[in-house]
Amino acid sequence: MESPFKPDVLKGKVALITGGGSGIGFEISTQFGKHGASIAIMGRRKQVIDSAVSTLQALGIPAFGIEGDVRKQEDARRVVESTYKHFGRIDILVNAAAGNFLVSAEDLSPNGFRTVIDIDSVGTFTMCHEVLKYLKKGGPGRSSSSGGTILNISATLHYTASWYQIHVSAAKAAVDATTRSLALEWGADYDIRVNGIAPGPISDTPGISKLAPEEIDNKSGDYMPLYKLGEKWDIAMSALYLVSDAVYLPLGVRALVSSESA
Ligand code: COA
Repeated sequence: MESPFKPDVLKGKVALITGGGSGIGFEISTQFGKHGASIAIMGRRKQVIDSAVSTLQALGIPAFGIEGDVRKQEDARRVVESTYKHFGRIDILVNAAAGNFLVSAEDLSPNGFRTVIDIDSVGTFTMCHEVLKYLKKGGPGRSSSSGGTILNISATLHYTASWYQIHVSAAKAAVDATTRSLALEWGADYDIRVNGIAPGPISDTPGISKLAPEEIDNKSGDYMPLYKLGEKWDIAMSALYLVSDAVYLPLGVRALVSSESA
């Protein structure tokens, strides 16, 4: 498919993508790279990261990978610092790392619940917190007037209720709340644009192979009025839009904040 964006829409930008070595995260890494960005991939599995980085480099994309677990603050700090040292700036953070499994609430241990909250919710906040000084306007490698951008990948499970997903639903609800709060505070204070994307079921991802009930297939109109699953490319194009200068709303946000505080 042909991208609707100019190939240089992210030229000169540096993106750090957690969980960027597989699934939706890897498609975002690839499309950001194809549109001019340099890519740092954070993940727990060295083999997955190495393979993803080789694929990106073979496409001519400046890329490097760093092992790390978003649950560990020292890993988050090390990965953010390495990204800055390697590329000399950080413009974009994408939080795509997530943990998941299907289990009934009755069979889920509190530690299992906590594990997913730790990865998705606390991990997202930790990464945002560690990258803040590099993304805020006037931060290292930045101009005094322009901040970077954050994109959090969430889900739609918690909009209603989903079977055997209590842990992920709670975790993604927290991610959405974090996105909104940071968009307000860091948008107003630091010119950092914070957005989220909530994908439904996306084909050819670890999420769909681990989580989708077998009855969800391409013929199921009950689940999919359009009779097709979303694709990783759809999410990557939305991500590209939200982190690029194609979208820019600072005046609206500032007007809202100043009218609320007046
Ligand atoms: N069913 C029920 N409980 C489970 C479980 C499962 N399939 N997998 C893990 N848990 C529970 C464990 O029992 C444990 O709780 P306990 O100590 O009370 O027994 C707790 O979760 C932690 O398990 P552990 O194996 O130590 O966790 P981990 O750090 O290895 O991470 C995952 C577990 C599931 C999050 C991990 O497999 C993962 O990150 N997977 C890859 C990412 C992914 O799932 N991507 C899809 C995104 S949609």
